[in-house]
Amino acid sequence: MNFSVSKHQVTFFLLFHLHCLLIISSSSTTACLEDDSISLLQLKNDFSCVESASIDYKPPHPRMVSWDVGSDCCSWDGVTCDGVTGEVIGLDLSCSGLRGSLTSNSNLFNLSHLQRLNIAFNHFNLSNIPPEFGRFANLTHLNLSATWFSGPVPSEISYLSKLVSLDLSINEPLRLETPTMQMIVQNLTQVREVFLDYINMSFVTLNTLVNLSSSVTTLSLVYCGLRGEFPETIFYLPKLQFLNLMLNDDLYGYLPKSDWSGPLELLVLSFTSFSGELPDSIGNLKSLMVLELGSCHFSGSIPASLGSLKQLTRLDLSYTNWTGMIPDVFENLSNLEYVSASSSNFSGMLPSSIFNLSKLYWLDLSQNQLKGSLPNQICGLSNLIRLDLSYNLFSGTIPSCLYGLPSLLWFSLSFNITACNNIYGSIPPSVFELENLQNLHLPSNNLSGIVDLNMFSKLKNLRGLDLSNNHLSVITSKTSNTTWPQFYRLGLASCNIRELPGFLKTQNQLGFLSLPHNRIHGEVPKWLMGVGMQYLDLSYNFLTKVSELSSNLQYLDLSFNVLHQPLPLPPPSMYMLLISSNKLTREISPLICNVTNFQIIDLSNNSLSGMIPQCLGNFSSELSVLNLGMNRLRGSIPGIFTQGNKLRNLNLNGNQLEGPLPRSLSTCKMLEVLDLGNNQINDSFPPWLETLPKLHVLVLRSNRFHGFIGEPEGISPFSSLRIIDLSHNDFTGNLPTKYFAHFQAMMKVDEVKEDVKYMGELYYHDSVVLTMKGNEFSLVRILNIFTTIDLSSNRFEGQIPELIGNLGSLLMLNFSHNSLTGQIPSSLGNLINLESLDLSSNKLDGGIPDQLTSLTFLEAMNLSYNQLAGPIPHGKQFSTFDNDSFIGNLGLCGLPLSEKCSSELAPQPPPPSSISYDNKDSASIFDWKFAMMGFGCGLVFGLSMGYIVFATGKPQWLVGMAEKGQRKRLTRRNQRLVRRRN
Ligand SMILES: *[C@@H]1O[C@H](CO)[C@@H](O)[C@H](O)[C@H]1NC(C)=O
Ligand SMILES: *[C@@H]1O[C@H](CO)[C@@H](O)[C@H](O)[C@H]1NC(C)=O
Ligand SMILES: *[C@@H]1O[C@H](CO)[C@@H](O)[C@H](O)[C@H]1NC(C)=O
Repeated sequence: MNFSVSKHQVTFFLLFHLHCLLIISSSSTTACLEDDSISLLQLKNDFSCVESASIDYKPPHPRMVSWDVGSDCCSWDGVTCDGVTGEVIGLDLSCSGLRGSLTSNSNLFNLSHLQRLNIAFNHFNLSNIPPEFGRFANLTHLNLSATWFSGPVPSEISYLSKLVSLDLSINEPLRLETPTMQMIVQNLTQVREVFLDYINMSFVTLNTLVNLSSSVTTLSLVYCGLRGEFPETIFYLPKLQFLNLMLNDDLYGYLPKSDWSGPLELLVLSFTSFSGELPDSIGNLKSLMVLELGSCHFSGSIPASLGSLKQLTRLDLSYTNWTGMIPDVFENLSNLEYVSASSSNFSGMLPSSIFNLSKLYWLDLSQNQLKGSLPNQICGLSNLIRLDLSYNLFSGTIPSCLYGLPSLLWFSLSFNITACNNIYGSIPPSVFELENLQNLHLPSNNLSGIVDLNMFSKLKNLRGLDLSNNHLSVITSKTSNTTWPQFYRLGLASCNIRELPGFLKTQNQLGFLSLPHNRIHGEVPKWLMGVGMQYLDLSYNFLTKVSELSSNLQYLDLSFNVLHQPLPLPPPSMYMLLISSNKLTREISPLICNVTNFQIIDLSNNSLSGMIPQCLGNFSSELSVLNLGMNRLRGSIPGIFTQGNKLRNLNLNGNQLEGPLPRSLSTCKMLEVLDLGNNQINDSFPPWLETLPKLHVLVLRSNRFHGFIGEPEGISPFSSLRIIDLSHNDFTGNLPTKYFAHFQAMMKVDEVKEDVKYMGELYYHDSVVLTMKGNEFSLVRILNIFTTIDLSSNRFEGQIPELIGNLGSLLMLNFSHNSLTGQIPSSLGNLINLESLDLSSNKLDGGIPDQLTSLTFLEAMNLSYNQLAGPIPHGKQFSTFDNDSFIGNLGLCGLPLSEKCSSELAPQPPPPSSISYDNKDSASIFDWKFAMMGFGCGLVFGLSMGYIVFATGKPQWLVGMAEKGQRKRLTRRNQRLVRRRN
């Protein structure tokens, strides 16, 4: 056991290194040489001057305090002398609080007989490592870890040809270059331990490592910025025991396929780009205790030979690309104490053999695709401390034998819910037998029944409890004077709670309290603010009033209550304030601008009136979201956005704002969402917004915008724009063809699906209200691939430009209610993703191009009230459109209209120009289309997260779409992405 603990320290090499061990190392009997004594005293002197310069600096371990003139230097703390000659051969000044530059003329370099030198964990002020280190000809151990040296490692280090242990780690400003590395590798023929973690080796050619001494036992290169292919020969070093390469993203390589054996005990490659298969030969590494390959690019199946690694105590195969089931070989790992297979792609049933690993104390199978019920055997793992089965597809009930796991501290079974698999049933009473339990996480399953919260008062060590989002009814009835555990985190969302649990009054360590989606009525009691939590979520209740907010609060969500009062004054610590959808009245006090940490303010959908405080544009440099939509705000938009602001989402939709757009909006370089729809803004089109590089959503609908939309001013206008809604204004002239030519974001058909994600941030999802297919609904979450153009209800005239067919990722196109003339361009047939097309109420003539029949995703089309003529094309989607799509065109004939066609054909528009598309895409398009919908049992997270929430029910077309995509899944990576974001 002791042994494995020390290995853990190697794994977390920081622990291994970061210890400032208080070892008194002087133990010799000989008297010290006078020269050495003088040098040491001068060295002390060098640093004590600097030390006293910073008065408040307390050295953690001032070894030098014991050094004074009167005594034998061999007895001084940190000093070791040779037993025979009396020469100082060892100096340990680690963690001595030394501060200041270490220069070439330091007295340190007079101690020429040194064999061991450790000055780790001091602060040498970013000075360079003096080349004089090369003078210690007999040095065997050099430790300069965490010393705040900078610049290049001097090549003189390579003179230390007797070096056995070299530690330069944790000096990020330090640089190791190829020539020096080459010399070190060549000259240090006896070196056994090499620690170069956290220094910059990004310029080192990795091939130089090939000549590393065959004596090397430890090579630790964590987070060195290594680039390129790792030489396979290193794996064959005959004495190598510890190899840690983690956190080198650009390092790739493969594990040896054959003849791989040796004394390797620790192999950590997590967070690198190693790929290929995990070879059978790994089974030859009989000494392996720690194997961590998480977050690499390995693929294939896990070799059965892993089962012969009898010494294994830690196994991390997370976030990789393994396929297949977890092999039964785990059965053989009788010493296995830790299995982390979280976030890999393991699927299938959990092999029962895993429960034979009776020494297992850490079982982490989270974030896989594991299925099946949880058998009683799980309770045979009687040494388990941590059991994490979250984010899988487990089903059935929680085994009631849990009391068989008395050592359990941490149990998570969250998010095992899909339409097809879920954890159901009640919380077994045996949970309350787990006296040591500190954390119980069961949110987002299908658990049901009544839970008496008082039962949890038995678990005296409980610090975190989350029962959110099940079908539980949690009773919080008043009880006797039970003493409660002191919670840090309590999550009871959707638990049918009717009043705030009274025991909260006794809590004084509570940081997180989450009670949304309950039935709590009345005022927020004053005592609740006295508990002093930082995070408070009471959204979706029936709260009527909150008088004052605790000064500790950082995150407050009171959205969807019935607060009818002025906005409560947020404390200065706050960074997130969400009180949307209440009945807040009166004006927004300018005092809100005293909260200079604000990142997110959402006060939308209230009855706030008056002007927007002038300060709101620039009071917090961190402000990222300002949503004041759906209120009764008047006046103009404050025009004081300053350079360098971080505003990402500005939503003022649905107020009574007037005047022109403030030009200072163009300083909001981070702006992604600008929604100013449904106001009375009177201005011309703002071409000066075209330079905002990230602008993704531009909604100016229903205002008083007017005039021509001119030509772009720059070369890549609105290059990120995906949603543009200028409808219901008074724009005139031709359609802005030149802009269409530059909507680059709408042209990316083949976009890597991996990048599909929601717009917004961890705690805030951007939303926007759009009209699609005739219905208005709000996209509560905007997928970043959602693209739409709505220029309807203006006075645009002229033709629809052919090049609109280039916007291949468009989902919705609405040019209705304008005065457009000419023919429908056949290039519209290139918009292969189009789901909704509305060209109604214009003056379009000619025939309907046959090419439109190739739009297989088209669910809604409206061409009514134009001057179209000729036969309506047949086939594919067209058979699903009814009369309404075509009426008001006197010249159209054929089904679904009752007019029969004569043999005469209307003139066909010319075929589409050069633009081509590849049909093979259609299959993969489903992937992300389905991602957007998130319905159906195939998708784990769609249901639990609610991908799109509709203001007015789910439109039928969307449900239909979801059913079509039922068997499709997000790519695994996207799922992870979604999870991470949640
Ligand atoms: C280094 O070690 C050798 C052999 O032990 C010894 O002869 C020599 O004097 C030492 N050199 C120094 C500078 O201490
Ligand atoms: C190797 O070390 C010796 C001294 O020990 C030195 O003279 C020589 O220059 C070094 N060679 C390299 C390549 O650094
Ligand atoms: C996963 O493995 C497959 C097949 O070996 C490969 O095509 C894909 O690129 C891998 N994915 C990652 C993220 O490594």
